[in-house]
Amino acid sequence: MADKDFDDRDNQYYRVAYGKICMISKIDNLTVLGDDRGRLVALEENRQISFDIKRVFYIYSTIKDISRGNHSHYNTRQYLIVVSGSCKVTLDDGKQKETYELNKPNLGLFQDALVWGTMYDFSSDCVLMVLASEHYDECDYIRDYDEFLKEVNNDS
Ligand code: TYD
Repeated sequence: MADKDFDDRDNQYYRVAYGKICMISKIDNLTVLGDDRGRLVALEENRQISFDIKRVFYIYSTIKDISRGNHSHYNTRQYLIVVSGSCKVTLDDGKQKETYELNKPNLGLFQDALVWGTMYDFSSDCVLMVLASEHYDECDYIRDYDEFLKEVNNDS
């Protein structure tokens, strides 16, 4: 894909596909609300989150030095927030990769469908919360990287 197909606007990465521009990943500095008692971050579907939230799951007590994810989805879009601790996330659209360090509870990372995601370097106190646009369905997973490349290059 030519460089001109990518625009970097406000940390948002876009992919030109089928004649329209779609976002593949986006890191947000979420608004921190709070007062003397402490802090609060609010997430609402179709506001901070660009999709209807059908599922929430969270990952914690992750064993040191292992990675999770290592897959893509055909349809599911996800929004990742580390509510405690830290981890790194590499997103890969088959053409380029970006690595993000999620180390604050007000950082939110959007992962589009057909983007390969890998999470690693989990701190022992890491709680990674994921909001998803679809219910759990193993058929929506692409777990083989070569198959993923075929899918994103549209030559399967
Ligand atoms: P998996 O998605 O493979 O974990 P990760 O990508 O973080 O390494 O899921 C691990 C297991 O949990 C697998 O057996 C499927 C199950 N699972 C559900 O039942 N529902 C869910 O929403 C998720 C994300 C996983």
